[in-house]
Amino acid sequence: MSASIPLSRPNVGDLEIQYVTDVLRSGMLSLGPRVPEFENRFASYVGRKHAVAVNSGTSALHLCIRAMGIGPEDEVITSSFSFVASTNCILYEGGVPVFLDIDPESFNLSAEQVQHFLSERCARNSEGHCVNKDTGRRVKAILPVHVFGMPCDMDLMRRLAQKYRLFLIEDACEALGAEYRGRLAGTFGDAASFAFYPNKQMTTGEGGMIVTDDDSIAEVCRSMRNQGRNEKSEWLDHARLGFNYRLSDIHAALGIAQLERLEELLSQRQFVAESYDKQLHGIPGLVTPKQMPGSQRSWFVYVVQLRSNAGSEVRDEVLRLLRASGIGCQAYFPAIHRQPYMKGMYSCPFGRLTKTELASDQCLAIPFFSTMTTAQVSAVCRALKQAIKAVSLHDVAVQVAGSRS
Ligand SMILES: Cc1ncc(COP(=O)(O)O)c(C=O)c1O
Repeated sequence: MSASIPLSRPNVGDLEIQYVTDVLRSGMLSLGPRVPEFENRFASYVGRKHAVAVNSGTSALHLCIRAMGIGPEDEVITSSFSFVASTNCILYEGGVPVFLDIDPESFNLSAEQVQHFLSERCARNSEGHCVNKDTGRRVKAILPVHVFGMPCDMDLMRRLAQKYRLFLIEDACEALGAEYRGRLAGTFGDAASFAFYPNKQMTTGEGGMIVTDDDSIAEVCRSMRNQGRNEKSEWLDHARLGFNYRLSDIHAALGIAQLERLEELLSQRQFVAESYDKQLHGIPGLVTPKQMPGSQRSWFVYVVQLRSNAGSEVRDEVLRLLRASGIGCQAYFPAIHRQPYMKGMYSCPFGRLTKTELASDQCLAIPFFSTMTTAQVSAVCRALKQAIKAVSLHDVAVQVAGSRS
């Protein structure tokens, strides 16, 4: 059944149509002026020296990994509670994702766990590089993900990256406009990635951006996204192995219009989130998103948790009931280390990722987009309350039946 209230929907208006039409009429559909314009405006919005536009958030992450020279058998500390791209980008280069557990309040990679891993399990080799004592492999980077638009504990992440001489790559794909201690997400790492798929705070249809203050990372990323050409190369001169990860001018024009409207888009999302907060407050068994002290979330998705002692059963049943009543929803995120293809491809130095798995079993993303009406929010809340009630009544009935047998 098609959802009558979708999980997400882009907010595209006359400005976007005008800018995209202008590009279509100009005849310069790619490698034209709109891409550098989008990059310059994006860099100044985020407050970083360089922005390099690419065709997806995944490409942005992949180029960061390559630009930092992360290769076969290099370990990268990251989170399994994320979208697969933040781990796949390590695997593309033969690196090994090292999964550490999350903070259950923010759902972000726990900086304390990172500290524990580095101080207990790692040592400096004769060249001063950080090496995992258990595997003998070099640890090269920390890749924290600002999950659901909530920034990670970047103070500690930065201190650890500096102390152990590791690269810090922020996956800010879900966090455009989020703030940590008054500073925008994407300004803490050696580089950061953003994504512009239509469910994001702003969209280019498909697209992504790398931001950095490092001239050489920016230069190498620009070259690699364009088949390894250098800035002034002839079209068929390739200085290095590259990719076609270019963003077209059509996409960039859409991005410029969305960037001009970003404050409006973010505040509409904030309004929808606050409406949900009010209507979903105090429902037994349901946990609404937390605000972390010192941080300002940029609302990407609205994810609730359905508490249960029975794995994912309650969440899955609520999800089934919501979908049956025409409400788009998603079990979000399934933990990456549980994806079948990941078997044998990662390391989990402290054993099971219990908090990651709990979040993965209990989290449910409900419809969330900037143009959601008050009536739509109320309809989702009603359906969610009914579904929780139906599942709880069923649970009680099963318990009573169990106690009689
Ligand atoms: C945390 C995270 N990282 C990376 C990506 C990848 O972005 P894209 O889909 O544009 O490749 C996404 C996109 O959903 C994401 O949520």
